[in-house]
Amino acid sequence: MESLYNMFVILFFLFIFKTTDVLTFEVDTYDFLMPNVHPHRDELYLCTPIRISPNQNFYIVGFKPNATMHTAHHMLLYGCSEPGSNDPVWSCGEMQSNEVDNLYTTASPCRSGSQIVYAWARDAPSLELPKDVGFLIGQDSPIKYLVLQVHYMTKFPEGKTDNSGVFLKYTQETMPRQAGVILLGTSGVIPPDSVEHMETACIMKEEKVIHPFAFRTHTHGLGKQKVSGYVVRKSMQGDKWELIGSKDPQLPQMFYPVVNTDPIGKFDVLAARCVMNNTRHELVKIGATNRDEMCNFYLMYWVENDTPLKMKYCFSSGPPYYYWGMGPENFNRIPDLDNTV
Ligand SMILES: *[C@@H]1O[C@H](CO)[C@@H](O)[C@H](O)[C@H]1NC(C)=O
Ligand SMILES: *[C@@H]1O[C@H](CO)[C@@H](O)[C@H](O)[C@H]1NC(C)=O
Repeated sequence: MESLYNMFVILFFLFIFKTTDVLTFEVDTYDFLMPNVHPHRDELYLCTPIRISPNQNFYIVGFKPNATMHTAHHMLLYGCSEPGSNDPVWSCGEMQSNEVDNLYTTASPCRSGSQIVYAWARDAPSLELPKDVGFLIGQDSPIKYLVLQVHYMTKFPEGKTDNSGVFLKYTQETMPRQAGVILLGTSGVIPPDSVEHMETACIMKEEKVIHPFAFRTHTHGLGKQKVSGYVVRKSMQGDKWELIGSKDPQLPQMFYPVVNTDPIGKFDVLAARCVMNNTRHELVKIGATNRDEMCNFYLMYWVENDTPLKMKYCFSSGPPYYYWGMGPENFNRIPDLDNTV
């Protein structure tokens, strides 16, 4: 184990493990796995980085997870300008930064330029991006590092180690459509024994047109009904709410195809809602551990001959401080609360 900590950042793409010819261009695979870590306590978030060769462009075109829900509660792949730490492995629970770990340094996944590239939970299968679409990383991208975060639920027995992670499919062929992800979510609290709606919304301010193609929902145990994402088109006649996608978060938390691929542009509003059923007799807050909750809607999109949105996150303070009806967006025709879409 000790030798692991002395190892420096692993150079990306020095080793090509497998080469397969798909269509007309070459796709290689990079095994991005935890370096045999030992989760020494419950609810541990661990991060490991790879530095991307700074003088080349690569496009990630697929993700093959290598994990099971028995050990990993979730995995997130972050793109960063700078990683949170220079260690080969560090403790990176976003909301437990005040916690001191005796084995690992504590830092966030990224020191700067954080964005989500991929997410996995509940035994979700592989994800292939559509034809001509790829996540640009390296030279011409703000993504100079990738950081893999794994949330381990429980402490491992003595001597047992883990190498959960994801096999990245990538190419050096230029993809005309760059992929991006925006994460919509909330903070907030859910009162005991009640159904609560956690809502967020953000106006599109950039001169860009995004084409949504996949979405993923994430909650913990209380997200019992649906998590839904919408695009709201503002007009003189009133707001038009178009569903982008809606899913029961207790199903495999994979990226599913959107139900509406209509392009989304400047002044449209992205919005998401989680319906939470708190059957516990205590207040539940948004937080990092499995006893807390989360309300997340990930939207994956492509842009044609353009760079992805600068807006990577769209978070609200959540209940009781924010609902769609209270926001600066001045929404009307808000979808019915009893309507579970
Ligand atoms: C991950 O992949 C390695 C081989 O690359 C394998 O030995 C290991 O069992 C896999 N882990 C899981 C959790 O699937
Ligand atoms: C919340 O959960 C309880 C217990 O499972 C159930 O009886 C109730 O119908 C649920 N409420 C909603 C709105 O789903």
